[in-house]
Parts: sequence; structure tokens; C-alpha cells
Amino acid sequence: MTPVAYPQAFHPIWTTDKRYVVLWGGGGSGKSNFISRHLVVRAATEKDNRYIVFRKHYRQLRESVFAECCRRVNELGLGNHFVFMLSPMQIVCKTTGSVILFMGLDNQEKVKSTARVSTVWFEEATEFSEDDFWQIDKELSKAETKYPKRYFLSFNPISQQNWVYGAFFAETAERAEFHANALRIKTTYRDNPYLSADAAEFFERAKTLRPRFYAVYGNGEWGTPEDLVVGPLPEVDRIPDAAKLVCYGLDFGFNDPCALVAIYRDDGVYYVKELLYRTQLTVGALADVMKEMQVEQYVPIYFDSSRPEMAAGLRAAGYLAQKANKSVAAGLDALKSHKEAGRLFTLGANVNLNKELAVYAWRKDRDGHILEEPEDGYDHGVDALRYGLFTHLKYSGYGSGLTF
Ligand SMILES: Nc1ncnc2c1ncn2[C@@H]1O[C@H](COP(=O)(O)OP(=O)(O)OP(=O)(O)O)[C@@H](O)[C@H]1O
Ligand SMILES: [Mg+2]
Repeated sequence: MTPVAYPQAFHPIWTTDKRYVVLWGGGGSGKSNFISRHLVVRAATEKDNRYIVFRKHYRQLRESVFAECCRRVNELGLGNHFVFMLSPMQIVCKTTGSVILFMGLDNQEKVKSTARVSTVWFEEATEFSEDDFWQIDKELSKAETKYPKRYFLSFNPISQQNWVYGAFFAETAERAEFHANALRIKTTYRDNPYLSADAAEFFERAKTLRPRFYAVYGNGEWGTPEDLVVGPLPEVDRIPDAAKLVCYGLDFGFNDPCALVAIYRDDGVYYVKELLYRTQLTVGALADVMKEMQVEQYVPIYFDSSRPEMAAGLRAAGYLAQKANKSVAAGLDALKSHKEAGRLFTLGANVNLNKELAVYAWRKDRDGHILEEPEDGYDHGVDALRYGLFTHLKYSGYGSGLTF
């Protein structure tokens, strides 16, 4: 095995006897990198062990945790000892017989095969529900294993309202025993000497440009609800069958992600579905992806009007691209008032949009007074939603949207 260094903060994990290992904090601190390495090293050295890596959404697995684990196998020089399989998704060590399985919780045939599983990893644990977690805990507790049971959770502390805060951080008498069985390690990008200089600079810049984003993703502080512009939207698992597609919202980006959402309406209630959140797309590539996703050509796409050449490209490809109403305050007000009236829902699978909403905050002046302007920069999905929903409300004569 080729030795590869990792941030020192994670060192205690190799020897801990705690059941729950909670890795939390800012982005880029090496949490995912470490846990994937830990599992690969264990699979290469422990005989006949089984591990499951969970993400809430199956479609996120392949490019995140599965890809990470495959990279770790190669970095550690273990390529000859492992085989990678996509269906079912797993990585098998031929030498030890140990298996790392990858599962999404939205694909229900799954968690039946917990036999002999000793270790699980909930990547982006805040995306799961508390119920998901305890169901799996219950299932695994039944399984007899020769290796100790261990649960990894990794996440950014997006909101104190999230169940993870209640379960692992809120100090209550009933939780005392449970907390005693948890090793919590907080890290930020400053703990990761292997982070690229560019990425570290990105966080440093955010310190003054986007303090709210920085607090959570830079400094790893728990997000609190005050001064959020919209806040997390209530989540549903699927768009109801009766809901009709009314429009799309599109925020162009190249170095920043290009975000495309679809907006559905059923009886005055709106549902948003994230279709795309990707950087480095030219207009030609975007049109191709939209075609692949079967974006409807007769449904309006409300886009950011500061990029007319992109819209021209989409129109040439046959799409009904129309300028969005871009008034920021009124648009955000429409999102917020729909949320408060129980008329706006997001899919749990809208991973990027939901993350943005959880930290999208008003700017503050030097004295801490809230300004009439949101923090810029981590708002691509929110902008796409605002362009789509607000312009739709305006054009369809719903006014502020709440008078129907
Ligand atoms: N040996 C190493 N240990 C840790 N990180 C490394 C190492 N070598 C390179 N890196 C880089 O540092 C970054 C750490 O990212 P990683 O995805 O593990 O962080 P994270 O804490 O999971 O972030 P997030 O909270 O955003 O998920 C990656 O870009 C990774 O490639
Ligand atoms: Mg990570």
C-alpha cells in the first residue's frame, strides 16, 4: 500500500471505539477524502468485512462517494487487489473478500442486504431524515458482525433546525449516553494542508464577500435561521401527478454553475425540480443537455436577461427562452410568501438548490444591520427558481402570487 498523508485531525478515527463518528465542519476540509480512504484501507486489510456508503439519493452516488473510493484505491496503489462494479454498485477487495456497497435511500429495494455489515457512512448526513437514520440503525443493530459497529456521518452544518443538530449536538439529558458514544471532529479548510491554493483562496475571499456562506462552509459554524432570505423549503419526495409543468427558470453561468429548474403547479401550490447545476457548459452543450433531459420546447424558460447571446442560442435550438423579471426584492418576497403560505415545495433530491436556500442570507453592513440586498455568489439555483416562479406569477396575472 502506498502511504498517502491526510489531515491530522482525523487521526483518532483509526483507534476510536465510539459507535458514531461525526465529521462535520466547513467545505474542503478532507472529510469525504478521509472516510473513503479509511474504508478502502480497512477493506484491504480486514477479512470478509462489509461496509455500506449511503447517500440519500441514488443518482448522487456514482460521481461522489463511488468515484472517491475508486480514486482512493488507485492512490493507495491497490488497483490490482480491487474490482469495481456498477450494478449493484460495489467495490470488492479480491484479496480479503471485503466489500464496500453503495446505496441510495430513495431506491427502496436496497437496505435489505445489511447482513454482516459492520460499518456505514452517511455522506451529506443533513440530506437524510432522522427516520432514515434510525431505521438503518435498527436494521444494523440486528446484524451479527465480528467487527464493531461503526457509523460515520459527514456534513456541513447548514442549519440548527436540521435533525443532525438535534441528534448529535443539542445537549439534553436523554441524549447524554448517546453523545458519550459519539466521536465528533470538527474541521475546516484550514485543517487541510492538501487543499489546492485556489480552493483555499476561494474560502478566504468569501470571508468578506459572503459572510453567511463563509460562516457555514468556511468556518463550519451551525447556520441559524435569522437573516435568511428564504430559508429551507419544505421537501416532498415527488411532484404530485396532478401538478402541471408551468415554466422553467434558468440562471446562466460558465465558471459558476448554470442552474435550470422546472416549476410545476397544482391548485395554487408550486413544486420545484432541479434539472441541472453544472459549470463549463457552452450554449451548444447546454442545448444538448436540455434535449437529453427532454426539456419541453413549448414551455417558457425564464432566463437571466443579462446574457442575450445565450438566449439567442437556446432560441435557435428551438426553446421558448424569455426574459425573466429580475426585480430582486419582489421576486424574493414572492418565494418567501409562497413558502410561508405552504404553497412552495422543493424535492428532497434538489441537492444544490436546497443547500443554497439553507444559507442564502441578507447582506449586513459593518454594524451588523441587515441590508436590502442578499449575499451574492451562492445563489444560482435560487436565482433560477426566482426567475421562473416570479416571472410566471407576473405573466399569468397572479400578481404577488398570493391573491388567487
Ligand atoms: N491527502 C489528502 N487529504 C485530504 N484532502 C486532500 C488530499 N489530497 C488532496 N485533497 C483535496 O482536498 C479537498 C478535500 O476535499 P473533501 O471533498 O474531502 O472535503 P470535504 O471536507 O468532504 O468537503 P465538503 O464539506 O465540501 O464535502 C479535495 O479537493 C481533495 O482533492
Ligand atoms: Mg465531502
